[in-house]
Amino acid sequence: MKERAERAIADCRRIALMTEEPGRTTRRYLTEPTHAVHALLRERMEALGMKVSIDAVGNLRGLWRPRGAGAKGLLLGSHIDTVPGAGAFDGVLGVMLAIEWVGIAQELRLPLAIEVIAFSEEEGMRYGVPFLGSRAVTGTFDAAMLKWRDADGVTMDAAMRAFGLDPAKIGEAAIGEDVLGFIELHIEQGPVLEAERIPVAVVEGITGQTRLNLRFTGQANHAGTTPMHLRRDALAAAAEWITKVEKQIRRAAATSDPGIVATVGRIVAEPNAGNVIAGSAEVSFEIRYGSSAARNRWTTKLIADAEAIAKRRGIGLEWTEKLDQQTVRMDRRLSTMLKAAVKACGYPVKTIPSGAGHDAMVMAARVPTAMLFLRSPGGISHHPTESVLGADVEASLNVGREFLLLLGKEVG
Ligand code: GLV
Ligand code: MN
Ligand code: MN
Repeated sequence: MKERAERAIADCRRIALMTEEPGRTTRRYLTEPTHAVHALLRERMEALGMKVSIDAVGNLRGLWRPRGAGAKGLLLGSHIDTVPGAGAFDGVLGVMLAIEWVGIAQELRLPLAIEVIAFSEEEGMRYGVPFLGSRAVTGTFDAAMLKWRDADGVTMDAAMRAFGLDPAKIGEAAIGEDVLGFIELHIEQGPVLEAERIPVAVVEGITGQTRLNLRFTGQANHAGTTPMHLRRDALAAAAEWITKVEKQIRRAAATSDPGIVATVGRIVAEPNAGNVIAGSAEVSFEIRYGSSAARNRWTTKLIADAEAIAKRRGIGLEWTEKLDQQTVRMDRRLSTMLKAAVKACGYPVKTIPSGAGHDAMVMAARVPTAMLFLRSPGGISHHPTESVLGADVEASLNVGREFLLLLGKEVG
């Protein structure tokens, strides 16, 4: 397994160089470097005799169907888009490990069909909405999104066509009834496994999240001549709201709603000049929490706060919801099999919730779904220093071998 682990890590490092921005890894949905990622994945998959295709939403899919395989197959995969300034392993490692699992299944001569999916969009960086790839695969892609525009004004429809895809065929990306389940391998992206000195863990469930875009609109004007009491400063209004969000959610996390998190991670001020009062400020907002009721309650309350702040300052406010994703539990049967595989390898059997979102949360609504996390050194992710330990990658492959044997027994 050492060789497999080293190859997967080396490929992740190579793919990290396929980027929109020299010097750092940024690969948003269907941007040019995605073609190079697809070429590398295709090479790896075809070397294993897999049949490779790209569906209409841009997921690259590799099918391994050995002779004698049953009617139902296993889905494996993760995503290949990234946040700006990303690390090398978020998503991509799960795809490379899925390909290695196929190699292991071949070594074991398992009569099991496996499809590996490299999901095209999980982070939601380009259109503010995540999980586009897994939505298409589960038949829940909302065609109304095709009209949405990215920061450069390019519609989703146009982005797909420029990449060589046909949006009219998105419906064809949906899976049928011939699926046993979906397994996603992913780095933990948090500090728990490192603190407990454990290489891998089975995911219990994935925390729900809401994402919004808010636009505060004031009046751009001269910074030197406009008295303070006559300004309609959109950036100051946004800043007041951001501070209020942090204060209230910090308090909630410490009292009524332990574990709740809310983040404003993006702000675009116009005209974004030091001597001009901002005429508009657009901010992202996301909130994540296990209880959907509490998450919805906080979302409503924080929007009302934004409206009150805007009104008091004579500022306009528009907001749009980009995502309302429920908390999901992973499939009990597949998770039990993953735990049995971890145990068979002699690793501690640890289960863990996921605060990060994953395609698995969309897949779980359609097919039995489970996840395996690998320890994240330093608990760091969404950052260039994100890393993995070679021994943990090997561990995840050992778990894969045991899991595939168990599954093979069940279906064979
Ligand atoms: C995906 O990385 C997310 O949780 O935002
Ligand atoms: Mn991510
Ligand atoms: Mn990810």
